[in-house]
Amino acid sequence: MLNLLFISKSFHISARFGGIIPTVAMDFHRNCIENVVNQTFRRANVSLSEIDAIAVTNRPGLSLSLLVGVRYAKYLSKRYNKPIIPIHHMEAHALMARMTNKIPLPFLCVLLSGGHSLVTFVKNPSEFYLLGETLDDAPGEAFDKIARRLKLRNLPQYAYVSGGQAIELAATSSRDPSKYEFPLPLSMQRDCQFSFAGLKNTGARHILKEEKLLDLAPDAVLPDYEDFCASFLNATSKHILQRTRRAIVFCEKMFLKSNKLRSIVVSGGVARNDVLFNTISGMAKQYDIETFRPQKQHCTDNGIMIAWNGVELLLTNEQILHYDDIEVFSRAPFKINLIQNVKEESIPNKA
Ligand code: KG4
Ligand code: ZN
Repeated sequence: MLNLLFISKSFHISARFGGIIPTVAMDFHRNCIENVVNQTFRRANVSLSEIDAIAVTNRPGLSLSLLVGVRYAKYLSKRYNKPIIPIHHMEAHALMARMTNKIPLPFLCVLLSGGHSLVTFVKNPSEFYLLGETLDDAPGEAFDKIARRLKLRNLPQYAYVSGGQAIELAATSSRDPSKYEFPLPLSMQRDCQFSFAGLKNTGARHILKEEKLLDLAPDAVLPDYEDFCASFLNATSKHILQRTRRAIVFCEKMFLKSNKLRSIVVSGGVARNDVLFNTISGMAKQYDIETFRPQKQHCTDNGIMIAWNGVELLLTNEQILHYDDIEVFSRAPFKINLIQNVKEESIPNKA
């Protein structure tokens, strides 16, 4: 069986222009899609008539980009008489790790990317319970902005990697990883919500203060940028850890009738971060929970995760639609929102 995906790669454009321009992204998609699909089939040595279904991202995202994929999927569906499986971008991130690991349902997923940050209980491939989400920035966005503010691109070893990767890499050479102080976001809120804007702003203030103090040239990087990166990464990890721990306690109480949660999946581009992943795994181990993530190249946006999500849904006979019924949605929050229920449980922070 093979599923197909047509997904946006608009972040390549955003990296160069410092933001996504919807019409440019759409043109880019339109120009590439046919070639990408043809090449995929050629490399896999299969023909379109041999596949079972076409999986395509239809939510959430930039409508103009989603439309390119959905229209092409509809065309193929009609031409080859194949059903279409519409896919939710974040659900696909959440399920990806199951392609290469035995992760029984249900599980808890912490999804951390450049556009999203949320924690969700995954009961099955089509039932997601939202426990928390970001109130402002996504973590990847905070990493990217801080890396840019630090001017890490001016150093050749960071010139061609993402902001998050650059910060992780720089932090490994830190000698004093607690040199810069960051307040723990939302520390008094007994919920699983996230906030990264405060960390980002505190970081920007630290950088400005140091730059002034040292009278740095406009293109110079802070001499102790490695310590700064390690401090920032630790503060981010601590915040995510606190929210994840509360989510574990909530899930065991609400869904599992005091049975143990067995697995946590960390996914999204930021899940590539070893410090963050190891911090979460270490905490989860204390609860006897195993932590997984997709292979690193599949943590960031990719087509395979859409195809895999299609497989998961195909196996449960869910969500297979006729091509006329597929629409795109720029916003698509999970249907079941338990954020308020988490608040009401008022689970304290660990002492
Ligand atoms: O999931 P993704 O590919 O795109 C979205 O759907 O947003 O995530 C991209 C984000 C970028 O912000 C990038 O800086 C971050 O993932 N990222 C990392 C690392 N590698 C990529 N963040 C922290 N540590 C990393 N090693
Ligand atoms: Zn993504």
